[in-house]
Amino acid sequence: MRTKIVAGNWKMNKLPSEAAALIEGIRKATNEGDCGVEVVVCVPFVDIPAAAAALKGSKIGLGAQNMHWKANGAYTGEISAGMLKDLGVQYVILGHSERRQYFAETDETVNLKLKAALEAGLTPIVCVGETLQEREEGKMQDVIVNQVTKDLAGCQEDFEKIVIAYEPVWAIGTGKTATSTQAQEVHALIRATLAKMNPAKAEKVRIQYGGSMKPNNAADLMAKPDIDGGLIGGAALEADSFAAIVAAGK
Ligand code: 13P
Repeated sequence: MRTKIVAGNWKMNKLPSEAAALIEGIRKATNEGDCGVEVVVCVPFVDIPAAAAALKGSKIGLGAQNMHWKANGAYTGEISAGMLKDLGVQYVILGHSERRQYFAETDETVNLKLKAALEAGLTPIVCVGETLQEREEGKMQDVIVNQVTKDLAGCQEDFEKIVIAYEPVWAIGTGKTATSTQAQEVHALIRATLAKMNPAKAEKVRIQYGGSMKPNNAADLMAKPDIDGGLIGGAALEADSFAAIVAAGK
């Protein structure tokens, strides 16, 4: 049995001075994260110290939203896995579609970041997903198989340490959710792709759904056999809606 994992992706929202209040609300609403579901908040880099302090004594995990693959050096503006670890970060989102779309993230850089995150002992949440155009042109399967294969290349032995998030780009922030049947189809495809890479470990990988997951659709999505949690954007910015999604994963 895979433990479900529900992570909030705050994206570029909440000031450092606002982080503690939201986390306080999430602590209360999720019984300190002690609720049978792994609960994580992925906050902006500058919010990390405040979030780490506010999470002390709870079971809720702390995540970042990106990192560089190098350990240190002349990479102005970048943040390394070691820097995140030093602040108590345990998870990191890699290859979010917004980074692929706006910041030239590629499968090659996602793969480098994945290896660096694993090396540092961070739990990576690797995002994959097709655009609306790709889906309409019948390319969804090729896109997903290609992303999973390239992003996770060389990391087969560490599969149990990796979380994947299937986020159809057309469902992010649009209010359009994939139906649970549509999502399950892609999650099964992702698991079959993982099984080709390492048959012994594919069943251990948790695959989250992300894209307009809300309290009213979360239970239906997470009831599917290959949907092991959620990566939540908008609904993670409010403690009650985030906690309701966490509760739906029980
Ligand atoms: P929304 O839940 O706002 O659609 O965002 C999903 C997402 O991108 C999480 O990483």
